[in-house]
Formats: sequence, C-alpha cells, structure tokens
Amino acid sequence: MKLFDVYPLNNITITKALGSHVWDENGTKYLDMYGGHAVISIGHTHPHWVKSIEEQLEKIAFYSNSVIIPLQKQLADKLGKVSDKEDYQLFLCNSGAEANENALKLASFHNGKKKVIAFSKSFHGRTSLAVAVTDNPSIVAPINETENVIFLPFNDEIALKACFEKHATDISSVIIEGIQGVGGIIEANDSFLQLIRCLCNQYNAVFIADSVQCGYGRSGLFFAHDHAGVNADIYSMAKGMGNGFPIGGILIAPYIKPKYGLLGTTFGGNQLACAAALAVLEVIEQDNLIANAASVGNYLQEELKKITALQNVRGKGLMIGFDVPEPLKDLKKTLLTDFKVFTGEAKPNVIRLLPSLALTKAQVDEFLTAIKAAIENLTPQP
Ligand SMILES: Cc1ncc(COP(=O)(O)O)c(C=O)c1O
Repeated sequence: MKLFDVYPLNNITITKALGSHVWDENGTKYLDMYGGHAVISIGHTHPHWVKSIEEQLEKIAFYSNSVIIPLQKQLADKLGKVSDKEDYQLFLCNSGAEANENALKLASFHNGKKKVIAFSKSFHGRTSLAVAVTDNPSIVAPINETENVIFLPFNDEIALKACFEKHATDISSVIIEGIQGVGGIIEANDSFLQLIRCLCNQYNAVFIADSVQCGYGRSGLFFAHDHAGVNADIYSMAKGMGNGFPIGGILIAPYIKPKYGLLGTTFGGNQLACAAALAVLEVIEQDNLIANAASVGNYLQEELKKITALQNVRGKGLMIGFDVPEPLKDLKKTLLTDFKVFTGEAKPNVIRLLPSLALTKAQVDEFLTAIKAAIENLTPQP
C-alpha cells in the first residue's frame, strides 16, 4: 500500500533523540530548533517522561471514560497549579484541532449563539470548525465552508469594536492565538487581548485562547495570552502538553457549566496519555522550564537581533521568528543540510524557532555559530 502523499518531506530518517538533539540512521547529529513543530516541550526522550510512560504501560494503557481514571484528576490538579488557573475545569482530548473544535462547540452550547470572530493569518487546525476559523481558503473543503465565521484583521481594535456593534446579539465566541504560529510569529497586542476580554464580557461572548502552539510555557508564561494580564474563558492546548505523546485539552472557566452529552471522546484522557502529560508538567515545574524559556529565549532573540542580515526578529520566550531576505532564501535548507540544524518556517519567508523549553544557552550559542556561518556561505564574497 502507498502512503497518501500529504507532506513535502526532508530526506532524513530520525532514529534517536535526546534533549534538544536528534540523530539520523547514519548517526549524524542534528540540533533541533524546531521541536518537531513546537511539540517537544521538556526535551526528547526525557528520562522522567520515558519512565512514567513505561511504568504506566505495565499497569494499564487504556480504559474508556466509563470508569474513574484518577490520573485525570492528578493531571487537572497539576495543570491548575502550573498554569495558575486552578478554578478552571479540564476536558481532555487528543489533538489541537480537536481542542479547538470542542472549544467552539462548547461556547455555542453555552450561549446558544452561532457566529465566531477569527483573525487574518490564523491557524486553528483542520477539522470542520477549526478549519472554518482558519484563514487559509486553500485548506477549507467546500463542506467546511460556513457563513458563521467573520474574519477581521489581526490587532485591529476599530474593526473588532465595529463588528461586535454590528452583530451585537450573534457573536458566540472570539478565537485568537496569543502569538500566531503558522501565520509567521505575529504577537497579539496586549491592548487587543484586553479589548477582546472587555467586549466578550459586554456581549456575552466566549473568549477562546488558542494556546496549542504558543501555550504550555513556550512564551515565558504558561499561556501567551497571560502577557496581557487578562483571562480567557477557554484555553485550547495540545503540542507541548505530551512532549510528543498525543494529547490535547481545553481549560474551561468555572462559569461554563458541564452537562452530560455536551462533549465526549473515546481516547481522550486515557491512562497512558495522562501519565505522559503529568510527567511533562512535573518536569516543567521541577526544572523551572517556563523561566528557562523566558531567559534563554530572550538571550537568543537579543543575539539574533545583532545579525543584520535577519529582519524583524520577534516573538516571546522560545517562540521566535524572523524574516529572511531574498538573497538568503535557502537559509533554512542550508542550516539543515550543511549545518545539521532543524528550524521551522512560515510562508513566504519566515524562519520559526520552536525548540524545547529546556534549550540551554550553550545550545543557543551552537545555533548562533551555525546560522552566522550559513549566512556567510550564502552571501557572495566580493
Ligand atoms: C495555533 C494552532 N492551533 C491548532 C493547531 C492544530 O493542532 P493539531 O495539528 O494537533 O490538530 C495548530 C497546529 O499547528 C496550531 O498551531
């Protein structure tokens, strides 16, 4: 059987990984500044994470949500503590798209309304509602098209106010990434997030903070939206939550009341996934990884700003992007093939850095040496 050809692939097979490094089948070592697309939060194959999964596997991997699963409660308690959202409620699922799907659906169940405000260059996933609020018509199938989504320009306060005024009674929710990832590392302004909070209160709409990529400590605070000093009503999470073990979830404000039948899942919250996610939070807490993301990220960003060939260096913590000028358009490829460094990209010309939150200053220096040399190699000598 052939694989359905979904992705353009790098011709590399990774067979081993540890911390912020991976190795291919020939034993070649790579520095991972991409984190498998922002997924690796505590570092590849972290020993505590491996041990927790192994020990859980010996006991029970899965039983359905028809029985009590104490690990879910342990995970909720730890998540409440580490995120400082102890009064929120946790619903567990399996991916970022599923988290957003459930967030949008729950908001609509809660207030009985249909319209959603989303923003230009947003990415929220590929399932039906998640893709409908994603600003990329090329990935929206005809069956996913809906009149219920209103796209507004990102960070445009006037447009946001006008939209709420126009659709006063119809807006069910507003969904926004704290830092747009796929859109190219674009930060939501604090005042914009504060305005969303204010308008959602005024018009009985639900503020959904998509934290799938920018959350879980990556920005130097648990949620990137926390930088604005306001709380959302629902936070969607995935990627860093399991450090590679598939798990997603939503945090739900206490005023949104549960009822049987609103949400559900077969695999979400299974024992093995909870053991993995709990281990992630234990390591984040024990090793102060959120503070590490803030300080190492800040160092990385400051040093990148000194490289004059790179434009508009931006981001927060270990979610950093910069524009690559046309003469250096092969920088990402050169970093990978010649300098053995994985980075991410955003079309058309952005390099995205989404490494493990345990990245060290020495590894930043390793990266800086590589990128400076790659730029030099790509720059014609006079
Ligand atoms: C901000 C954001 N939301 C949602 C998703 C979808 O997550 P998943 O691929 O786990 O469905 C992504 C994936 O890149 C994302 O970056």
